[in-house]
Amino acid sequence: MQVVQLSQYGDEEVLEVVDQATPEPVPGRVRVRVTARSVNPADLSGRAGAFAAFTPGLTFPAVLGWDFAGTLLDDAPAVPEVAPDGVLAAGTRVAGFVPWFGEAAGAGTYAEVIVVDPAWVAPVPDGVTDAEAAVLGMNGPTGAAAVDLLASHTGDLDGVTVLVTGASGAVGAAAVRYAVRRGARVLAVGSVDDDAFVSGLGAEVLPRTDAAGIAAAARAVDPDGVDGVVNAGLASHELLDAVRDGGGFVSAAGVFVPEPARGVGLDAVFVEPDPSRLASVLRDAADGTVPARVAEELPLADAADAHRRLAKGGLRGKLVLVS
Ligand SMILES: NC(=O)c1ccc[n+]([C@@H]2O[C@H](COP(=O)([O-])OP(=O)(O)OC[C@H]3O[C@@H](n4cnc5c(N)ncnc54)[C@H](OP(=O)(O)O)[C@@H]3O)[C@@H](O)[C@H]2O)c1
Repeated sequence: MQVVQLSQYGDEEVLEVVDQATPEPVPGRVRVRVTARSVNPADLSGRAGAFAAFTPGLTFPAVLGWDFAGTLLDDAPAVPEVAPDGVLAAGTRVAGFVPWFGEAAGAGTYAEVIVVDPAWVAPVPDGVTDAEAAVLGMNGPTGAAAVDLLASHTGDLDGVTVLVTGASGAVGAAAVRYAVRRGARVLAVGSVDDDAFVSGLGAEVLPRTDAAGIAAAARAVDPDGVDGVVNAGLASHELLDAVRDGGGFVSAAGVFVPEPARGVGLDAVFVEPDPSRLASVLRDAADGTVPARVAEELPLADAADAHRRLAKGGLRGKLVLVS
């Protein structure tokens, strides 16, 4: 099978395409023939070594990649919320994500066949393509978890005002949709020239500027400050100025959380595999509640190119590596 691996941290040049034996069945684990994996900001950070402290067991050569979609090669036990009869049969289309490049650190999704914990997968409903499911495997649950976390600080979101940054991205767009569904008034900042997409999510679009400018724009709409922020776009303490005293601020962007101030509840999302939540996000994608934006599908072997394009910016949606 084809695998994209790296033998050291570094720039795109460290990604090399190699052939490896297809994994044999592993007790307690399931194999997935991966057809799609999205290229995420975390892939670029991981390649450069930014997560070395989180992956102490990682040995080289290592394989990057978090999200995946594909087909089960083995029967997978599943919780009832995911499969009422307790099993996802071999051949089922599934999606998921591999945390920190796998429990055996170094085994991410840039491979044609991966071996995963069955608790990391959920079925992909009809109407959602593998590429779309791969966009949501990690990012959809992150956006949903961020909104849940925000509600733990603000209380019921019905009628409250929420600011979402990074709303053009997979995490931010999901957060907007879940906050809107819970009755929040959502202000959102996305990419330049992407207002139609962001307003289509049900948000009021604020201009894309720096954190101080975004906070000022939010205060212009809501002079007391918004009740809460889901930050999926930028790391800046000034964004906290958007929030009213005693509100909430949840960050998904890196490990950034502002300094405590004015009684605002602060939190960071660290997404964990949760098949029930993922199954629910994928159903929401099938009925159009949550968008899954695919910029382009590229062959797995073009991973280095995809990294360069993501680093350059300007994409609308995810690049998805297919095999
Ligand atoms: N903590 C976790 O568990 C977890 C899980 C998944 C993802 N994440 C993180 O969440 C963040 C979003 O992920 P993603 O996959 O949604 O990324 P993405 O698809 O690349 O989207 C990020 C979006 O944020 C926009 N953006 C960048 N700077 C902004 C700013 N100053 N104001 C408003 N929007 C801005 C980008 O626009 P441009 O393209 O115009 O720059 C882009 O549309 C990333 O930092 C990612 O690493 C965290």
